[in-house]
Amino acid sequence: MSGSDFSFGTRASGSRGHHSAVIDDVDMESVHSSLTSAPSVYSYNSSRDGTTLLRFVQGRAFNAQNDLYFFPADEEEFTRLEKNDLKHLVAIGRLYVEQEKVQRILAPSPPLPKQILDLGTGTAGWAMAMAQEFPHAEVIGIDLAPNTSRFPLPPNCRLEIDDFNLGLPHYYNSCDLVHSRAVANGVQDFKWYINEAAKCLKPGGMLLMTEGNHNLLNAAKEHQECAFGEGGPGQSWFARALFEGHNTLKRRGSSVDARVLLENLMIECPLLTDVGAHTRLMPVGPWDRGSTPEEDQQKRILGILTRQTSIDLIGAMEPLYVSAGYSAADVKQMVDGTKNELNQLTEHMYMKWKYAYGTRNTVPIPTDDECEPEKSFQERH
Ligand SMILES: C[S@@+](CC[C@H](N)C(=O)[O-])C[C@H]1O[C@@H](n2cnc3c(N)ncnc32)[C@H](O)[C@@H]1O
Repeated sequence: MSGSDFSFGTRASGSRGHHSAVIDDVDMESVHSSLTSAPSVYSYNSSRDGTTLLRFVQGRAFNAQNDLYFFPADEEEFTRLEKNDLKHLVAIGRLYVEQEKVQRILAPSPPLPKQILDLGTGTAGWAMAMAQEFPHAEVIGIDLAPNTSRFPLPPNCRLEIDDFNLGLPHYYNSCDLVHSRAVANGVQDFKWYINEAAKCLKPGGMLLMTEGNHNLLNAAKEHQECAFGEGGPGQSWFARALFEGHNTLKRRGSSVDARVLLENLMIECPLLTDVGAHTRLMPVGPWDRGSTPEEDQQKRILGILTRQTSIDLIGAMEPLYVSAGYSAADVKQMVDGTKNELNQLTEHMYMKWKYAYGTRNTVPIPTDDECEPEKSFQERH
């Protein structure tokens, strides 16, 4: 099946225009608006250079569509995201929580294929794995940045360049499963975003949302102290780097508080029912022990992956710190401090992840619903 075989997902020109990206040099299979000749959602299946959709800052590539999401979109970042993929797989044992429910919803029901939408798909690792597990389903991954290095895609998986902050009316009432993981830094208003994601579901469809908490816990599962000044025992440079990153992202307008409030925000969504969440504490480094050999092994793998992705994360945040005005010395102290502390395991810490889920109810989409975030998340909370 080619990308153009998909029957859902074409952004109508009635939605707000966007995408200033030049796409001349990219072999795109564009999904054109039915009302204008200008493509607004780009579907691509090329392994050719996609750099015209990127910009370069401090030696790293970033998406060129949206300033809010200021994390790299390059090979180094994709390697971090691939390790994250594995981390989640080990943490929840599968690609998704609420297995029975998800499998029931995605069971084949010919003649129509099941539809899965992955918002902020990154490397598309999750989208591709879902397409393989559910070969009768059609999976679309959308992202601000192209990912031209991980092809070929399974035949039932397609990627599109799209900004979910601009509304998703082209997907309303069409999906059986909507997935969103680790996207809070790119979301302007998370309450609005949950509502928008829920609108993409058919009644009975499921929304799966996963976010990690920037507040680390110590070995006693209590608040981890940040390092200040020269640092010292019981203080963490990684916790400090996350704290500074969180505040910087918040000032830039990202809805980072949703990392803590995710489940509550989903409960508040009038289009969702049966909302719940699973929590996983991931040891940062292989220091935690399990009570069985299997659990021990799982914690060791999780610890190693979390340590690696944490070190990679601080590297990915360097341009963010610099652009926010942190001095080179401060950035170096946070980066080097994090590396030393995590490599030497001087602090034993956990990172908390929430895997939230909800089911689309039968409440119709209000006709007067604006398809854009009204206020920033910070203004609301
Ligand atoms: C940390 S990565 C997570 C990728 C993937 N969900 C995963 O868990 O491996 C966040 C991804 O969301 C994408 N993203 C952020 N803001 C977005 C937006 N407004 N619209 C579409 N994608 C966005 C980024 O480009 C990036 O690929």
